[in-house]
Amino acid sequence: MIEWRASCQRCLINSQATDIPNRAFSRPRLPLSRFHLMHEYEHVTPTPGSIDVIIAAAGSGSRFGDSQNKLFATLAGRPLWIHTVARLSARAEVGRIVMAVSQSDANLFQNEWSEELKQYRVELVLGGAERSDSVQAALECLEQSESADWIAVHDAARPLVRDVDLSAVFATAWQNEAAILVSPVTATMKRDVGSMNRSVTVPRRDLYTALTPQVFRAGLLKEAYRKHNGRPATDDAELVERTGHDVALVVGAADNLKITYPEDLILAEAILARQSHHA
Ligand code: CTP
Ligand code: MG
Repeated sequence: MIEWRASCQRCLINSQATDIPNRAFSRPRLPLSRFHLMHEYEHVTPTPGSIDVIIAAAGSGSRFGDSQNKLFATLAGRPLWIHTVARLSARAEVGRIVMAVSQSDANLFQNEWSEELKQYRVELVLGGAERSDSVQAALECLEQSESADWIAVHDAARPLVRDVDLSAVFATAWQNEAAILVSPVTATMKRDVGSMNRSVTVPRRDLYTALTPQVFRAGLLKEAYRKHNGRPATDDAELVERTGHDVALVVGAADNLKITYPEDLILAEAILARQSHHA
């Protein structure tokens, strides 16, 4: 029997009352230049349960083109969203996990996957029309009861994030208040400056593709969302950047793929096999 949480109308499944120890932090914030690039991180370990995770899973997977959400597509024998939550749930730093799902998928999650949701300590919340609406809903859900001082936002559609990259981005955020995983742009970049008849080459030396997780001090992310006011933003880091706060870039593995098209699943199977082999 799944109960609605009385205090939070949008929370679909209450957490299993996990005991989240010691959220206190004493580390000073380090000075950073804007968009500071972190190739390496000092070996710090955020305390157990100090980072709550928001998983954005409320999209429709329209580009994937399946009859159901791409998040239910099978990757190595299980739905890809389970790969995603399993990787995060296994981390000692992770406290609560709130996953935003769409109204049309909510029943499927609750009816078909309640055991797995319980196993991985996942609370469900109804997301919104835009990804930022879904993150906002999860933020509100976190606020309804005890929550950690740090929040990591991760796409459900990125099931391949590596443990070593989670360590790096968690540790960097813990030191610097805001950090995101990125991967260097490898393609030659062109900008159209004349209705597709004239181009300039954009140096790619300082260009990176933004990945997730994106990890923030909770107060900072909440402030960014308060100031959001519906202005379009491509990721959570952009909202934080608008507050004038530095966001550290942590170079992660490029195989932290976002499943978008069916062919991405073939690649994901191969990456997963390789990751398992090297584990
Ligand atoms: N997402 C979300 N809420 C939305 C839209 C997207 O939580 N309103 C989530 C998706 O479920 C996904 C992640 O954000 O895990 C990244 O979005 P994307 O890859 O674009 O997924 P979809 O929006 O589902 O796919 P599409 O754009 O092809 O419809
Ligand atoms: Mg989308």
